[in-house]
Amino acid sequence: MDATHSAIPEEAAAQSVDAAIFGRRSCRAFLPTEVPRATVERLLEWAGRAPSGSNTQPWKVRVVHGTMRQKLSDEIVAAHFAGAPHSEPYQYYPLAWREPYLARRRKLGFELYARVGIARGDKEGMSRQLARNYLFFDAPVGLFFSLDRDQGQAAWIDLGGFMQTFMLAAQGMGLATCGLQAFAKFHKIVARHLGLGAEEVLVCGMALGFADAQAEVNRLVAERVPLAEFSQFFWD
Ligand SMILES: Cc1cc2nc3c(=O)[nH]c(=O)nc-3n(C[C@H](O)[C@H](O)[C@H](O)COP(=O)(O)O)c2cc1C
Repeated sequence: MDATHSAIPEEAAAQSVDAAIFGRRSCRAFLPTEVPRATVERLLEWAGRAPSGSNTQPWKVRVVHGTMRQKLSDEIVAAHFAGAPHSEPYQYYPLAWREPYLARRRKLGFELYARVGIARGDKEGMSRQLARNYLFFDAPVGLFFSLDRDQGQAAWIDLGGFMQTFMLAAQGMGLATCGLQAFAKFHKIVARHLGLGAEEVLVCGMALGFADAQAEVNRLVAERVPLAEFSQFFWD
């Protein structure tokens, strides 16, 4: 198969797209099963087929496995529990939460914490769960996505498409993923270990591996609002 077309017949392709879109969920418990480097390279090549404004392909990806993955996790988990100072490389969430977004965020939080056995108000439990992010939820492979800051908002749209293409491609290969924006606030540690330039902004991390199908947390299905709530048709 070359990079310009898929060898999958049309009907099977439609089914595989459906399965990838509806099968994908954020995975928060991974098996220790290894992922071959060649598979990650292939997924990144597929993700690179994502569209971008004027074909600028602004995404930059750093893949960590083995020693570097462990080093990053160790240092960031330690910084997290030590309450070390950190900073946001960009504003991810709104400065003030409001409806309807607040309710959606809360619902996810309650459902997630319920599945990992953290009671409402259990700050220590929540802190432990946050630390699990920095362990890539035990996935063997971590990815960090960055952009050159001067490339403007178009690059952020393009990177979103790239990441989603990567996640769907991984799903199609029987692998699981979880976006890990949680890493952004420790961007200085990531930058030091992975050599991000001063002009680069760390946008997001990601865990990649095989899902632990027995883990309760992986049974969480984040609900979606119905079509009519987010769309309008002007159609005759
Ligand atoms: C850019 C991005 C960053 C994310 N960062 C985190 C994260 O740091 N920790 C986490 O547990 N989930 C993270 N998620 C997962 C979202 O919570 C999840 O996509 C959302 O709740 C919808 O659930 P689903 O992916 O299972 O469909 C992230 C998702 C995206 C798209």
